[in-house]
Amino acid sequence: MKDAVADADLVVEAVPENEEIKLDFYKKLAEVAPEKTVFASNSSTMLPSQFAETTGRPSKFLMLHFANEIWKNNTAEIMKHEGTDMKVFDDVVEFAKQIGMVALPIYKEQPGYILNSLLVPFLNAGEDLLVNGVADPETIDKTWMVAMGAPKGPFGTLDWIGLRTPYNLAVGKAKAGNKEAEKFAKLLKEEYLDKGKFGIESGEGFYKYPNPAFEDPDFLK
Ligand SMILES: NC(=O)c1ccc[n+]([C@@H]2O[C@H](COP(=O)([O-])OP(=O)(O)OC[C@H]3O[C@@H](n4cnc5c(N)ncnc54)[C@H](O)[C@@H]3O)[C@@H](O)[C@H]2O)c1
Repeated sequence: MKDAVADADLVVEAVPENEEIKLDFYKKLAEVAPEKTVFASNSSTMLPSQFAETTGRPSKFLMLHFANEIWKNNTAEIMKHEGTDMKVFDDVVEFAKQIGMVALPIYKEQPGYILNSLLVPFLNAGEDLLVNGVADPETIDKTWMVAMGAPKGPFGTLDWIGLRTPYNLAVGKAKAGNKEAEKFAKLLKEEYLDKGKFGIESGEGFYKYPNPAFEDPDFLK
């Protein structure tokens, strides 16, 4: 690691999404990186203030978060914490643009950045409509797709994410007493995961792939 970072201007950390592993990594990195090196974390769910002190350079630490399927969805969310130097923040925004990203500056730390702050409540709303018996997945998706001109609705999006992650999230919320999440976790487990339906990756989730119903022009009629 010492050789790798000897003259680095920027280190982007993408070690596993586990606080202990990340803290250990930053402790070791802080010992060997030169003073000029800016550290950025690609963590999807953690906050910069969790690591700022351990980096030994809080003013040169921030988040640089890439989207899934970065080759198509070229967003980079750049998020500071209270102690990040504004010059460092602006430099990383510029760096993101230079590597071909759409740079999205976030001035205050926020769990889920912008994307997941919007996406998670949207998916939860679709899930609640389903488990409360209001409408079926196709109708919920169709409503969103036609009215908003969107390529997918919540259930097409869940298939794309992969159904294990929403299941884990629903189990966590169910444990905290959320009744809808409890119903959704049970549905996902019994009707999908236990039957080998994990979403796009396994060829079936709420839809069948590679040619899901929502890509059929007749679906929207
Ligand atoms: N998967 C995604 O779509 C995605 C998108 C945006 C951000 N992220 C974030 O990127 C990070 C990594 O996610 P991932 O899905 O690639 O995780 P992963 O667990 O699949 O991969 C982590 C990588 O870190 C390496 N590693 C493990 N321990 C290490 C250590 N102690 N020191 C250095 N390297 C170590 C592993 O060999 C592996 O290459 C997470 O913080 C995650 O939140 C992931």
